[in-house]
Amino acid sequence: MRIRKAVLPVAGLGTRFLPATKAQPKEMLPIVDKPLVQYAVEEVAASGIPMVVFVTGRGKQAIENHFDLSAELEQELAGRGKEDLRRQLRKISSMLRFAYVRQQTPKGLGDAILTSRNLVENEPFAVLLSDDIIVNEVPCLKQMMKIYYRTGHSVIAIQRVPRNSVSSYGIIRGRQVQDKECPGRLYRIEDMIEKPSPADAPSNLAVIGRYILTPAIWKALSNVVPGAGGEIQLTDGLKNLLATEPVYGYVFEGKRYDAGDKLGFLQATVEIALARPDLGKAFRKYLRSLKI
Ligand code: UTP
Repeated sequence: MRIRKAVLPVAGLGTRFLPATKAQPKEMLPIVDKPLVQYAVEEVAASGIPMVVFVTGRGKQAIENHFDLSAELEQELAGRGKEDLRRQLRKISSMLRFAYVRQQTPKGLGDAILTSRNLVENEPFAVLLSDDIIVNEVPCLKQMMKIYYRTGHSVIAIQRVPRNSVSSYGIIRGRQVQDKECPGRLYRIEDMIEKPSPADAPSNLAVIGRYILTPAIWKALSNVVPGAGGEIQLTDGLKNLLATEPVYGYVFEGKRYDAGDKLGFLQATVEIALARPDLGKAFRKYLRSLKI
């Protein structure tokens, strides 16, 4: 079955970026001149998925406006002869179809995904967390879709991380699968542990914010017992899923930035600016001039 929908949960509070996120969504913070969430939406489009389902919440209207037509602004730009910019804005709103559903309170990623159930229904779908920006010629999601189409099972993006940082991630225990098409990159997941200490971690393979999930995830998430504060964790839902059907971990190709973290956000900003044809040269010159 084709993957036709990508769910983007954007209802979180973004506490790590306060005060910047007091009155604007974290997902709208820009890396250079593009909001975080647009990088994820462009990855969906480049992977050939035609529809995005946003799980939004209070104070997130800026995201809806960003992906909507802005007739007044377009008219103003056309009047000023800024046709290129006008076309660029139009491209954002015409890239894909967008649907929105609201998570009433940010009760965890598992709960956010469950909120999209009526819009996704009974078909496999993708989930992207816009905190994770992944740069690669072949989009990470597209790589994962290839695995899904071959196996018919859920696929979770994983990455090797330094041992001393495993406690910031969900970590998998898995068995490597021999696979001619992506040698050394595919794992059958046997267990997942949320934020283990380095001593307890079964590996250094960390779960990153890209998932392809089969409809069996709905039951798996519904069966999660809410934790502290009524939160429904995605990891618990995935563990339930593992108990009923195979789930694969895929070590994707590409460079990933954790833009949900301040240091990661700065790294993404510097490296993406350096790679920009319109900015890279001048920015490199400026960085070289710094006495650091
Ligand atoms: P994060 O945990 O990184 O985002 O969730 P957060 O909670 O907003 O940020 P901090 O940790 O307080 O700084 C990853 C993605 O999942 C969404 C967030 O909006 C973010 O894009 N999310 C998280 C929801 O949609 N609902 C939730 O209940 C939790």
